[in-house]
Amino acid sequence: MKSKKTFNKSICCIGAGYIGGPTMAAIADHNHDRKVIVVDINKARIDAWNSDKMPIFEPGLDEVVKRRRGKNLFFSTDIDGAIKQCDIIFVGVNTPTKTFGRGAGCASDLQYWEATARNIVKVANRDKIVVEKSTLPVRTAEAMERILSNHPKFHFEVLSNPEFLAEGTAVKDLEAPDRVLIGGHQTPRGKAAIKALAEVYAAWVPKEKILTTNLWSAELSKLAANAMLAQRISSVNSLSALCEATEADIDQVAKAIGMDSRIGPKFLKTGPGFGGSCFKKDILNLVYICENYGLKEVADYWRQVVLINDYQQERMVAGIIKTMFNTLANKKLAVFGFAFKANTSDTRESPAIAITKLLAAERAQIVITDPEALGHVSGDLGELAANVETTEDPYEAAKGADAIILLTEWEQYKALDYKKLYKAMRKPAFLFDGRNILNHVELKSIGFEVKGIGKP
Ligand code: UDX
Ligand code: ADP
Repeated sequence: MKSKKTFNKSICCIGAGYIGGPTMAAIADHNHDRKVIVVDINKARIDAWNSDKMPIFEPGLDEVVKRRRGKNLFFSTDIDGAIKQCDIIFVGVNTPTKTFGRGAGCASDLQYWEATARNIVKVANRDKIVVEKSTLPVRTAEAMERILSNHPKFHFEVLSNPEFLAEGTAVKDLEAPDRVLIGGHQTPRGKAAIKALAEVYAAWVPKEKILTTNLWSAELSKLAANAMLAQRISSVNSLSALCEATEADIDQVAKAIGMDSRIGPKFLKTGPGFGGSCFKKDILNLVYICENYGLKEVADYWRQVVLINDYQQERMVAGIIKTMFNTLANKKLAVFGFAFKANTSDTRESPAIAITKLLAAERAQIVITDPEALGHVSGDLGELAANVETTEDPYEAAKGADAIILLTEWEQYKALDYKKLYKAMRKPAFLFDGRNILNHVELKSIGFEVKGIGKP
């Protein structure tokens, strides 16, 4: 008789979002002997994970989920049941920037995290390893440990295992990460927990890429990595303004400096500024922490990265107004791309939101087109959405438009029939390439008035 399949060291993840869902799918895909349960309070989200249409658009994710779902990967709203079954509990609930009280606009709102920690204490039936997966302020683990240590019988060992995946390439990043970082206490219990978690990743990640540190270094490393990446973008965007003033070309400058092996070529692409759920939130969080520790100069240094990002968006809109004869009133503007970058449906902190708002304040008529992200337009623009049209068809969006404003670097925008678009537009037909991805020489020969970023 076949023996009943038993799972050793089951794993659960509380929070089925952009991080929890893909990460657990990858873990399940490489650990067939482990049961992996992803739970969330949001039933609609769980239903979507269990359906044919994933709640997030992520290339390659469908296949991984479908491969393991119902075998060793499960999505459920039974949070308490999952906590009881599992020895390793990842926490991937959201930690948005606080919008109220002390630290509003900067500090992380930890209410979901704390509610989760209290729930773990309430329902746990044996010792557990609790893994911080959400990006958290440094020393959050300390607060969590205080809540978790309130149990008379069981011990909860806290680890920090920040996720470095980028949206749009989540599956690829999880499959071949630059590193897996695990922070924990350097005590016998802490070391045993680190080892247990490292084993999960060692199923597919080479040992030398699994880096273990103390808890605080792991927490800070995530904030620091995002701050350094965002700083590169603000640096290149600040130089794009100088390029426009001096007739230098930012793409040429970026290529030249990127060939210096100490600098490297990645993350030097100018654009409408960085978006996404992490960069702004994490930098503001870093700023808040620095201020709390009395490090004003350090806080000011990092705050400037966010200020330059806002400046880039204002600068771009000012350029559009100036080019279009100092008025946008009643002009039809076709915004190409609403997602914060290509290959994702995510629009959190998308530069398109701020730019659309600034354009709408000029009383322009706006049509937004995007292949994946239109579902977020009404939520992101609030009252303004009533005056904004949307269409998945870029040709429809450009019909009768005075300008195309390209904000997301979708591959399909490179392959559009620009002669057809030009014909359908009002003349002069303006094209603002906010990502510098189109062939400007060719567009000019069609008849477009083209403006890129940081271009002479
Ligand atoms: C980022 C980090 O890359 C990832 O490691 C972390 O786990 C989460 O935050 P993500 O926000 O998904 O990932 O996307 P990313 O590819 O980093 O892009 C962030 C923003 O920067 C996007 O708006 C993108 O368009 C912009 N960007 C990126 C540029 O403007 N220029 C570049 O050269 C690179
Ligand atoms: P991230 O990008 O960090 O993954 P998301 O916002 O995409 O963040 O996902 C966080 C998920 O956490 C959401 O689906 C949300 O419903 C879920 N969540 C928040 N609080 C709780 C909680 N107390 N218990 C379970 N899930 C929660």
